[in-house]
Amino acid sequence: MRYGIFADVHSNLEALDAVIEAYKNEAIDRYLCVGDLVGYAVNPRECIKKVKALAAATVAGNHDWASVGLFSFENFNPLAKEALFWTKTRLDEEERSHLESLKLVYKNQDLTLVHGTLDNPAGFGYMSNGYIAEETFRILETNICFIGHTHCPGVFIKNPAEGIVSRQEESLDIEPGNSYIINVGSVGQPRDGDPRAAYCIYDTARKRIQIKRVDYDAQATRKKIVDLGLPEFLGDRFILGR
Ligand SMILES: [Fe+2]
Repeated sequence: MRYGIFADVHSNLEALDAVIEAYKNEAIDRYLCVGDLVGYAVNPRECIKKVKALAAATVAGNHDWASVGLFSFENFNPLAKEALFWTKTRLDEEERSHLESLKLVYKNQDLTLVHGTLDNPAGFGYMSNGYIAEETFRILETNICFIGHTHCPGVFIKNPAEGIVSRQEESLDIEPGNSYIINVGSVGQPRDGDPRAAYCIYDTARKRIQIKRVDYDAQATRKKIVDLGLPEFLGDRFILGR
């Protein structure tokens, strides 16, 4: 099985289209989305529709739940809040009920998906260090968990001998006995200094995980935000990758 796993699209249609196009060369059998379809950019409806058609499963992100009243706006910074208020006014009934229907955790025989952390998925905490990762490893029932939320790709590996180590890997071979938390990075608003859209491939037969990047027209995404009168910094972030 070759999984295409991606997260944090954030209404960025240009980035999503570039990732879908790049995946066409990867012989993907099943797509999975690790949340945050909406927020920040200005094509929530199109992104919901495309991911709904593409992904076999999508878990809820904090922006998805906040835009339908399931998570408090008070948890967001002023710019994210403004984008979310705008998003809320754009969704129709069907799109809202799709976001409402998203579950916090997805699990199958190969993997687990959660947007933030597994120990408190509804709290949407950031998996920012090994101490936090330990809590997810403790209750993880598969050997791999895919996450998003920080918008920075990265890996936590739990090895029986070494404990938990954190790494930045573009390609990772899965070894027996280890457990893995893979942050797949962000399609629509990367924050690791690389503005290219991030997407992940998990090949279960080869036991290999790859995080890839693809260029897209971030200037076009920025212009849409500026033209709508939304805060310019929301647009600048697509160019900066921060
Ligand atoms: Fe996000």
